[in-house]
Amino acid sequence: MFPKRRMRRLRRTGLLRSMVRENRLNMEDLIFPIFIDETLEERRPIESMPGQYRLPLGEIRDEALELVSLGIPAAILFGIPAEKDEVGSEAYNPEGIIPQAVAEIKDEVGDDLVVITDVCLCEYTDHGHCGLIEDDYVQNDPTLELLAKEALSHAEAGADMVAPSDMMDGRVDAIRTILDDNGFTDTIIMSYAAKYASAFYGPFRDAADSTPAFGDRKSYQMDPANSDEALLEVALDIEEGADIVMVKPALSYLDVIRRVKEEFGMPTAAYNVSGEYTMVKVAARKGYIDEERIVMELLTSMKRAGADMILTYHAKDVARWLE
Ligand code: PBG
Repeated sequence: MFPKRRMRRLRRTGLLRSMVRENRLNMEDLIFPIFIDETLEERRPIESMPGQYRLPLGEIRDEALELVSLGIPAAILFGIPAEKDEVGSEAYNPEGIIPQAVAEIKDEVGDDLVVITDVCLCEYTDHGHCGLIEDDYVQNDPTLELLAKEALSHAEAGADMVAPSDMMDGRVDAIRTILDDNGFTDTIIMSYAAKYASAFYGPFRDAADSTPAFGDRKSYQMDPANSDEALLEVALDIEEGADIVMVKPALSYLDVIRRVKEEFGMPTAAYNVSGEYTMVKVAARKGYIDEERIVMELLTSMKRAGADMILTYHAKDVARWLE
């Protein structure tokens, strides 16, 4: 007996396939990460991330205009300061690299680009950890005050959203409180809620110059083996006032994205991190894989898992492919 239900009927032509397609990647889903280096006069390629650059402040307006013209709706900014110290002073300097960059972008493109800032100390501390160190241990509570000041300095400069990536307990509450107390009640918090201690951040640490000088981040970032714990992390951040919750990395954590989306129904972001980018880029440059098809398949899988938005270094390439 031949099958009555033939699944292949709806796969016969491109048009039929598009009619039954369940998930689509749109330009509106993408957030492009930008590295701004206070020490540079001109852009410098990031060796560990082929095709990505550290930008000088002087190029930030053009960069913003380029993103707008490509149809990319949002950027997340990472700062590399000229001076680093034990307490990450430049992270919460109101005249620091990020407040300056935010102000310039907003002056240039206004609401045509959503400006998100990464809130963390690791790019600003000389030891490269995401918080204050005492007895060789990252101290939670004293760090909160600094993160809150950092977020406030970004909001004052005009950031639409602040994105704490440090994984200290209670930071969303600390940030929401300081923002509200200063009248920034509409500044959005996108929390890196379930952020894992991942080897996939390797190329980023080179890009942002934030490799820890000793030890690792396992005492604050999550164990890759856990996913119930991710739900607890996300629940706490929502309780503390997060507007958008993020799972990071994306590729090895599609199951976590799915669980988070199903459990909370919150706006959910996935961070397609540096190591995921570099693996694809290097293999593509060698000619071993089809870059466009691989990237579209990967990003679509993140949407299928439940992500509403994706932070990705591929955003500019995707803009060209989707044209
Ligand atoms: C800062 C931060 C990191 C990333 C985003 N924010 C690095 C880390 O936690 O080590 C990683 C981004 C990427 O790998 O693309 N805490």
